[in-house]
Order: sequence, then C-alpha cells, then structure tokens
Amino acid sequence: MAEWQKSGWRAKPRVQMPDYLDQAALNAVEAQLTQYPPLVFAGEARSLKAELAAVSRGEAFLLQGGDCAESFGEFSADNIRDTFKVMLQMAMVLTYGAKVPVVKVGRMAGQFAKPRSAPTEVKDGVELPSYRGDIINELDFTPEARIPNPQKMLQAYTQAAASLNLLRAFSKGGFADIHKVHSWTLGFTESEKAQAYREMANRISDTLDFMSAAGLTAENNAELATVDFYTSHEALLLEYEEALTRVDSTTNTWIAGSGHMIWIGDRTRQPDGAHVEFCSGVQNPIGLKCGPTTTEEDLKILMQKLNPQNEAGRLTLIARFGAGKVGDHLPRLIKTVQEEGANVVWSCDPMHGNVEKASTGYKTRKFDNILQEVREFFQIHRAEGSIPGGVHFEMTGKDVTECVGGVRAVTDEDLSSRYHTACDPRLNASQSLELAFLVAEELQAGGSRLRAAS
Ligand code: PEP
Ligand code: CO
Repeated sequence: MAEWQKSGWRAKPRVQMPDYLDQAALNAVEAQLTQYPPLVFAGEARSLKAELAAVSRGEAFLLQGGDCAESFGEFSADNIRDTFKVMLQMAMVLTYGAKVPVVKVGRMAGQFAKPRSAPTEVKDGVELPSYRGDIINELDFTPEARIPNPQKMLQAYTQAAASLNLLRAFSKGGFADIHKVHSWTLGFTESEKAQAYREMANRISDTLDFMSAAGLTAENNAELATVDFYTSHEALLLEYEEALTRVDSTTNTWIAGSGHMIWIGDRTRQPDGAHVEFCSGVQNPIGLKCGPTTTEEDLKILMQKLNPQNEAGRLTLIARFGAGKVGDHLPRLIKTVQEEGANVVWSCDPMHGNVEKASTGYKTRKFDNILQEVREFFQIHRAEGSIPGGVHFEMTGKDVTECVGGVRAVTDEDLSSRYHTACDPRLNASQSLELAFLVAEELQAGGSRLRAAS
C-alpha cells in the first residue's frame, strides 16, 4: 500500500465541500495556513487518546459538547466562558453519577464547517447555494454572501487560536476550581423549578465537605483546581485540515493540528471517500458518526481503515439514530464491533436524529426525545454487554430558546425570543445541566463501572 499523504484525499471522491471559484486565492490561503503554527500539540492528542482508551474499558466517561456551528458573529469571551462553565458543571455531575473520571471535549475552537442536507436553499422563490458555516460562506441570504471565500479560513484559524488560548487559561488558571463549579450548580438546583436535582447536588456538597475536612483542598491539590479540556470538530473542510497537518517530531507520524479530536460526519463517511482517506492517516483520536444508514459491512471496512492497529482510544463511534430508532440499529452495529473484536468508544449523540420543525416554523429538538434516545442507548448497551462510553451534545452556556422542554420549559411559542444558532438548535445552559443530572441517574442505575455484567 502506498504511504499515506496529507494531500491524498484530493484523489478521492469528495462530498459536502465547496467549489472555490478563485483557485489562486485558495492556493495563497493554503500556503499561508501551512506556515502558521498548529493549534494543538501532538502530545495532547496522545493524552486524549489514552483517556479515551480508559473510556473504551469503562474506566472513564466521555462528555463532548458545544455549538453545532461556531460563528464569527457570536465570538466573544463571554460565550466561550459560559459554554466552558456549563460543561464543567455537567462533567462534575456526571463524575458523581458514573464514579469515574469524565473526559471533557468541546465542540469548540474549530467547529466551523457544516454539511447540509441540500446544496441550495429556496426562499420566496429565490434559490441560492446553502450556507456551509462561517469558515466557507455567510448566512445572509444574498448571492454574494453565499460565495465560498477562502479568506474565511484565516479568520477561522485566528478565532480558533484565540478560543483555545482562553480555554487553556480557564482550565489551568483557577476558574475550574471544583468548589466554584459546584456553587454554580447549586445556583441552578436551588431554584424552585430545579428542585428535583437538589438531592444529588446536596450529596455532592457533602462529599466536597468531607474531602475538605480530610485535607483535600484546591490549594493543596491541583486536581481539584484545574482540568484537562480538549477541542474537537468535524474534519469537513479538508483544505483547512491538510494545511494544519504536521509531522510530529517525537513520533515521526502525522497529526492534524486543527484540534485534539476530529470526526467524520454521517454524510461524509463513504469508505472510499476523501474524508475517510484524510482521517485514516493522522494520529489524532477520530470520531465516526453512525446513523440509520450505516451498514454492518461499511462499519467493518471503516473500522479497518480508521483503526487498522485496533488501538484503544483511537476510534469513537458516535451513534445518532433518533428517539425510538436506537433499537433498530444499535444492536446490529454493537454485534459487528463485538464480532470484529474492535476496541471502540461508544458515544451517544441524541441531537442529530431528533431535529423537527416546530408549529411556529423553527427547526427545533424536544428535550424529552433527546433524553429518550440517551436512555435507549444505555439500555441497549446493558442488554448487549457493551459499554456506553459517553454523550455528545449541541449546547451553549447561554440562555437561548432553541430546543423545547426542560424544567424551565421552553415552548414552541418561546422559540422566536432567543433563537441564535447559525445551524442546529442547541440545548441552553439549564437544559444542558438538567440533562447531565438525568444521565447521571442513568449511570448510577447501571452501577459504578458502566459495564453491563462483567
Ligand atoms: C454535527 O455533528 O453537527 C452533524 C452535522 O452531525 P451528523 O454528521 O451526525 O449529521
Ligand atoms: Co448539528
């Protein structure tokens, strides 16, 4: 087999990628990005892989979350802080439920390019190319805005670098102190509406008090004052990915420098396609979305291509079937994994199979369907003797009204009030934390080690 090359994807069929009109401008941007420093260090991607290997054995749990699409317009320190903050709260509640460490991975600092269900969009009889994320074109419904512009890759790089810089500062600089994180959570559970979760929050308070009394404080224990936080995004725009791919000098292998973990979407997982070819050659942890149309045969080929050494932590299968449909698909794919003896992390994305149109015309998701899909995922893993390793959410720390339901119920009529997403509807801060409490209950019900019966 010929040696893998970072440009090898160019010879393969590609889908969901823009056709840039100005080739010279595209080449200039790629040349510039190739000169820029990578955003992540290979050693960090290796640490994440080791943590995901623990997830695959049921010794840790994965929480992956963030925007459907990061946007240039919503870029601010407050937005990054608020998403980071709610992810820490969720992670703490999940740690309590799972009784294992929670691996925290943001859909942040690079989640800009979007696959679309149709190449064009029609509004009032006018047809224009679809919006494909701020790294490619613009959301405004004008012909100029929808032209793919390679310069946007440079702006995305700058935004990703600044986001990652702030996330690193928050992770290690004192913001992530476990007592602070818990006090924010108490702010939520003490509200009249969220009292159902107060009991678990009180038990966490008791545990923290006990630890302090025993001398385990954030002052004398870095583990309680800092966190490891990783970044991830869909590796969709391969010109951008290739330009940031570098040889890791310590291992002499290729590493995608655009983020710690990258994933392949449900629309771009063709076994002989460009996206699979690109991801097969970089050493980062790789995610693979599995949907209702994923066949057992394709999964076998994809596991072989993406993880030929069967390395634990390398491959995360992200199941996204839709509430009520998990039972039709997950058991057959779990069997395939078991038959192959493949080491994978199984994670549940209860977002992308549950999009619907609200009576008011907005694209939304129902909190109850999201929760139901997570429950089906856990039940089936337990029944099949497999490990439910993690969850994958589209969420924000802001008080948006994009998904309906939750204790502070967002209704169909509320959707218009704070509907800010550039793409899919996200859980707001309250809905995200509530979901963490409910998932923690599932984890407790399943026993401390996430395993079915080992
Ligand atoms: C996404 O995660 O934003 C996405 C588009 O998911 P999927 O590929 O599973 O549809
Ligand atoms: Co999405």
